[in-house]
Amino acid sequence: MATAIAHPNIALVKYWGKQSGSGNLPATPSVSITVAGLTTTTCVEAAERDSLCINGEFRRDSRVEALLGAMRDRFKVPPLAIETRNDFPTGAGLASSASGFAALVTAIDDEFDLGLAPQERSAWSRRGSASAARSIFGGFATLASQDGTWTGSELLAKDAWPLEVVVAVTDETPKPVSSSEGMERSRTTSPFYDAWCRSTEADFETACRAVAARDFESLAEVAEHSCLKLHALMLSSRPALFYWNPATIAAIETTRRLRDAGTPVFYTIDAGPQVKAVCAPGKGGGVAALLSRSPGVLRVVRGGLGDGARPADDAS
Ligand code: DP6
Repeated sequence: MATAIAHPNIALVKYWGKQSGSGNLPATPSVSITVAGLTTTTCVEAAERDSLCINGEFRRDSRVEALLGAMRDRFKVPPLAIETRNDFPTGAGLASSASGFAALVTAIDDEFDLGLAPQERSAWSRRGSASAARSIFGGFATLASQDGTWTGSELLAKDAWPLEVVVAVTDETPKPVSSSEGMERSRTTSPFYDAWCRSTEADFETACRAVAARDFESLAEVAEHSCLKLHALMLSSRPALFYWNPATIAAIETTRRLRDAGTPVFYTIDAGPQVKAVCAPGKGGGVAALLSRSPGVLRVVRGGLGDGARPADDAS
């Protein structure tokens, strides 16, 4: 049996939209941070037939089945009993699919000695969920086309710029529309979809430069822009994709007021109602205290930047 752990990642330049064809390739490049405060733990073991147990419940998941099928076309992987647990809400906009697929591929690699390099684990994880390609790496990560090949990479190690993250949880229930379905709806119905794809290339370059220069203000500006543009794209889809609730908007306001008062902090929101506040090193305590009192926030989860997906017995 092998056990692997992985953390979700939060996109600062968002991926939303896929290329046509197989392989689950994104239409746009993305930049993310891997978050230490939230963890997925996945065990795999050879069994008589495949089974998947998520947080104690046996499930079928067509994406897991497709990934296993593709891996078995390449490697000798027997039927598997997979058991996975998240210490945070599943399917609620906290990137559980990212950490889930990154942990699964890492556990399979470890158990069956596939000898995959991180970029190969990233590529396999991407087939399950494109954002999972980034959770293979710690700190700051990208998923982008390099010489025509879509590759996940580490952009900057976590200790090189130890930003902090505070997640304001405003609703623990699973989201009504999955990311895959939502992004396909945006691609086929939003009048803004082409502009989104074009402009995200520039956001990606800006964010990479900001991370390289540890330029918090530039990163904050481009990350909030990418987030709001994503939600404008979602709102302009038909039927509209509306993931926010009143507490989401209040938490945005709280974060903005904090920044206006001088705290280096910005917000970002994915396909769900949780608000993720990213702040400069050492500012997490104050941000968490204020966000936990923001109207409608159920709880806050605080963390630093995390490591990439790894076997559970690894010291790192
Ligand atoms: C809003 O990676 O969950 O979090 O590839 O279809 O599994 P699939 O989508 P997924 O979408 C993530 C969307 C996002 C932005 C991001 O993480 O880049």
